[in-house]
Amino acid sequence: MKTPKDKLIKLLQDAHAGEKAAAYAYNGHARSLTDAVEINDLKKIEDEEWDHRKRLAIMLTELGSGPRASREFFMTLVGHTISSLCRLGGYLNGFNFGWFMSMYGAGKLERGNIVEYEVAAQYAFEAGYPHFVPSLLDMSEIEWDHELYFRQKSFSSKWARWIPIWSEPPARELIQKNFLKFSGRDRLDESSFA
Ligand SMILES: [Fe+2]
Ligand SMILES: [Fe+2]
Repeated sequence: MKTPKDKLIKLLQDAHAGEKAAAYAYNGHARSLTDAVEINDLKKIEDEEWDHRKRLAIMLTELGSGPRASREFFMTLVGHTISSLCRLGGYLNGFNFGWFMSMYGAGKLERGNIVEYEVAAQYAFEAGYPHFVPSLLDMSEIEWDHELYFRQKSFSSKWARWIPIWSEPPARELIQKNFLKFSGRDRLDESSFA
């Protein structure tokens, strides 16, 4: 049977590979855009995904593990594929559909990332690595911000009248509140988890 630590390692490995795919995808997404503000927004989001990957690598080392090669390979392909599709969408942007689909696809993926880090924080707590929790919840909140950005962009398009937007996540403050309820702690600062 899998221990909480096994489950944590597997999830962090998946997230570590997923962050690379996301960073590659956003790199292509930024190149598909023409608006300078949006290009900067996407570059900032890409940087945040690389930062998440670094944090996860440090956690995996502390767990006596590291990235899972097969997953890294697969997600590298996924990242390059999405990147190419975004760039293609930038060239074939009739009626702004390429722009919309890149924003839409990104938002849907980010919706899943919020939950992934909430679950990782619970696994870390159960596995005896509670000092990972503040960083994992912080990453969940940053993914929440990414999801909001892409949802707002998607809603700003006329295509949103025809293509339903995914369901909105629960409020941002619930990420920490729900974890505190789960863990029975009353504070989230590093010292309370040391
Ligand atoms: Fe991320
Ligand atoms: Fe993200």
